[in-house]
Amino acid sequence: MAQKTKPRYKRIAQLKTADDLRSYLVEQNIDLQFDEELMTGDQSPYRQSYTLRSGDVIGNRFCILPMEGWDGTTDGKPTEFTKHRWKNFAHSGAKLIWGCEAFAVRDDARANPNQLVAKPNNQKELDELHNLLIAEHEKVHGNSSDLYIGLQLTHSGRFCKPNDNKTLEPKIAYHHPLLDKKFGISDDYPPITDEALDRLIEDFVSAAVLAQKAGFHFVDIKHCHGYLGHEILSGFDRPGKYGGSFENRTRFLNEIVAGIKAEASGLNMGVRLSAFDWMPFVKDENDVGIPSSFEGAKYPFAFGGDGSGLGVDLTETFKFVELLETLGIELVCVTLGSPYYNPHIQRPALFPPSDGYLPPEDPLAGVARQIKVTGEIKKAFPNMTVVGSAYSYLQEWLPNVGQYILRHHMSDFIGLGRMVLSYPELPADVLGNLPLKRGKLCRTFSDCTTAPRNGIRSGCYPLDPFYKQSPEFEKLKQLKS
Ligand SMILES: Cc1cc2nc3c(=O)[nH]c(=O)nc-3n(C[C@H](O)[C@H](O)[C@H](O)COP(=O)(O)O)c2cc1C
Repeated sequence: MAQKTKPRYKRIAQLKTADDLRSYLVEQNIDLQFDEELMTGDQSPYRQSYTLRSGDVIGNRFCILPMEGWDGTTDGKPTEFTKHRWKNFAHSGAKLIWGCEAFAVRDDARANPNQLVAKPNNQKELDELHNLLIAEHEKVHGNSSDLYIGLQLTHSGRFCKPNDNKTLEPKIAYHHPLLDKKFGISDDYPPITDEALDRLIEDFVSAAVLAQKAGFHFVDIKHCHGYLGHEILSGFDRPGKYGGSFENRTRFLNEIVAGIKAEASGLNMGVRLSAFDWMPFVKDENDVGIPSSFEGAKYPFAFGGDGSGLGVDLTETFKFVELLETLGIELVCVTLGSPYYNPHIQRPALFPPSDGYLPPEDPLAGVARQIKVTGEIKKAFPNMTVVGSAYSYLQEWLPNVGQYILRHHMSDFIGLGRMVLSYPELPADVLGNLPLKRGKLCRTFSDCTTAPRNGIRSGCYPLDPFYKQSPEFEKLKQLKS
């Protein structure tokens, strides 16, 4: 698990000038645009507010992406670690908080025994977390009337580990030959039944009701990263009413939305979507990521894929976003793939997590890929409110790339994940035209992912003093060596 990296990719910190960055992008054949100069004051596109169809105003164009911490109690309640993260989200200055973190809609839907759960017993804690965001945001930024907050609702599907960090208790939508093999699922393991999905829809709706009571503006009906909602979208061979046709594969979403409209009227909704997926990657003899070998003539398991396992066909992705529009859902957060089997397309990093592989491409190529697909979605659906992801790897250049994206309407919001764990106030600094604090920039060491993969709570161990001083950091260092 030593952190290895190939010297062939330059570190972002080495790309000191716009010319350095430009020529490196040309050398690597990466199509990524950026503004050389940051605009100041009210000229800055980051400072423009955004008005939703509901009339709600979001105060600026930074969004905090959902980031779970594997740090709840075993009955799904937050701890001081959870609150530390949420406070940082509130202090960041971003006015859109997409989901906060993945909340399981029932105990057995958790991806780890410490995932938070949106269930009636936890209503008080949900209220408190919401109020904490508001109070902490007001403490630092004064006004919270233009702060827009969602709660991400999820079922972890084939990645459920509700009781023990080492024991998968999967709920699969269908048998996926490569993932079944990777995660030890036998051919006779039963997929989740239609009746169980019917009940699960009710759980999503009940969780949304709790979120509304707590004061959240919207819920995210999660359809990404290989979790259940996402997996159902590629259940082409699944029999019954939740598999096969596009209509059947989106029935789960449709019914959750109908239930929320009936039970939590007025609550807004969004969807975080893996806009396309690829096949799982494995390590080659040098630990570099390569695609799994697959015998079939067509790889049918990737929603938004072109059948090769490594290509893109957005036909169904666009159909899905069109469906969102038809359902009256305005908010979509774009992400890709899954952190469990192709992390380099999902969260580009120079240093892989312990269950990952060395980057098969310059991580900037991964960033550019997400920017491109997000731009295509925004172009095809100009009335949707689009949030982009995976900008953290840009480091020093994040504000410049983000500004270009906003100016060219390639996304409405710049979503921040890992960067906020190390440098929570980056949005406030950019909005205030302050120089970046380079010592706080996330350098994508992936400790925030390696820790939970090894049963340790997540956090920015190298840079956040809250974690740096914790005994877990020593444990993590030992694991890595
Ligand atoms: C520690 C960690 C926890 C995450 N938790 C969630 C989550 O709960 N829900 C989700 O949709 N994505 C989650 N993500 C993915 C991020 O939201 C984001 O898509 C990803 O990190 C890429 O953005 P970035 O380059 O800004 O980090 C997580 C990522 C990390 C590193």
